[in-house]
Amino acid sequence: MQVRFAAVRPEGDYVLALPVASGSGPADRVGLDAAAVAIVRRAAEGARFEGEAGAIAEAVVPEGESVRRLLLVGTGAAGDAERNGFEQAGSALTARLLTSGEKCLVVDIARLTAGDAGAAAAHVALGALLRGWRHDTYRTKLPAKAKPSLAELVIVGGDDAFVAQAQAAWAPLKALADGIAFTRELVSEPANIIYPESFVERCQPLKDLGVEIEVLDEKAMAKLGMGALLGVAQGSARPARLLVMKWDGTGGTKAPIAFVGKGVTFDTGGISIKPAGGMEDMKWDMGGAGAVAGAMKALAGRKAKAHVIGVCGLVENMPDGKAQRPGDVVTSMSGQTIEVINTDAEGRLVLCDAITWVQKTHKVKTVIDLATLTGAMIIALGHEHGGLFSNNDDLADQLVAAGKASGDKLWHFPLSDTYDKLIDSPIADMKNVGPRDAGSITAAQFIKRYVEDGVRWAHLDIAGMVWAAKPGTLWDKGATGYGVRLLDRLVADQFEG
Ligand code: BES
Ligand code: MN
Ligand code: ZN
Repeated sequence: MQVRFAAVRPEGDYVLALPVASGSGPADRVGLDAAAVAIVRRAAEGARFEGEAGAIAEAVVPEGESVRRLLLVGTGAAGDAERNGFEQAGSALTARLLTSGEKCLVVDIARLTAGDAGAAAAHVALGALLRGWRHDTYRTKLPAKAKPSLAELVIVGGDDAFVAQAQAAWAPLKALADGIAFTRELVSEPANIIYPESFVERCQPLKDLGVEIEVLDEKAMAKLGMGALLGVAQGSARPARLLVMKWDGTGGTKAPIAFVGKGVTFDTGGISIKPAGGMEDMKWDMGGAGAVAGAMKALAGRKAKAHVIGVCGLVENMPDGKAQRPGDVVTSMSGQTIEVINTDAEGRLVLCDAITWVQKTHKVKTVIDLATLTGAMIIALGHEHGGLFSNNDDLADQLVAAGKASGDKLWHFPLSDTYDKLIDSPIADMKNVGPRDAGSITAAQFIKRYVEDGVRWAHLDIAGMVWAAKPGTLWDKGATGYGVRLLDRLVADQFEG
């Protein structure tokens, strides 16, 4: 969908949408002639439309010799209209019109009295773009009627000053939308298309945005002693990769912050194999790595004044004659040894070496990892919050705040020595699973053992957030792009300027 901002409504055929805040009488805001106002008022009544964020009332109204399709769209209460209400309005319009046959949507916000019209317009566009994203690559028989038709979104604001303001507000949000779309693409692709090497290839275009890319192959990782990550990969015909993406918008003046993503491009469980039912979901077990890649794209795309290193531990977890066995002991890059009790607890084995690598290679003071780490996280939080675990309460608070502000919500869980003890092993330094209870916490405790002194660390278990079984406000069913907005917001609030 093309987005543009204009001073006045264009000529020709389009659907006109008029945003309405809740509590304001719709009819006196629409700026139409008397006959049309009566029609619109009746339509609003018939839809019980009161301007709630994302609500829509629809009518066809006369316009000169012709008629026009008109949608009132709610932006909610004025208080939260600054962002959410406008995004929900844009999203609801796209959901309604995407495959309707309509090609052009004009949203006229010129009559908006309160707030920053430029920012409002940019958030309408963001909501529209995010909700309109689809992955139709493999649907060769989609009937014409089911294909997206909406190709153009014009947001009208009354004057040239609006156009300039909206464009300025849109530039960073467009970068964010591109980053989220990239994450969704990586997550949606099946595991025969996205595997460690092809994940790396898809990220190469980030170079055009100024991201520096470094790739470690298995030989390089073996030399560094990454026995935990390589142990997971050894049952797969697809060789593992460590992908490193660097963005420095500070001109070398600041220490980097690191984002580390679990990139298990498919998780069969390995020899501790998963049941067949629903195993196809494990194509999105690289959602943490996908979020890191999308966040790098968003940050570079808006030229964030921050220094960020994104690391993706990319492996496929397969059962095979060469696969690691339950009971195997592997040595991680940190030197710590691990008894692999369950080959399905592979994410932590990948993360520990990726985290060690970034701490040993770069002077990072803050490390945030993202991973679809445990099914237990979904039992605890469902699909509303990601789980947050941290060794630093300030960082945790900053992440919770960024979650609230961005909509990618987080819930803070505890860590303690008593949980840590649960992963002690009789034969090695630790085992890769504890008892069934508190499975998400013991997983976090495992990762914590790889965080060096003086490093602020947070672990985000996003198992419940990467994939949506039904459409949400800003996404269709499928890949959500969770995490990109969160990291972008955290960087904007804490690591820039
Ligand atoms: N990738 C899974 C976790 C997962 C499950 C994410 C369902 C999304 C949906 C992870 O590698 C895993 O298999 N975890 C095990 C850990 C257990 C063996 C301790 C789990 O959660 O069952
Ligand atoms: Mn697993
Ligand atoms: Zn996994």
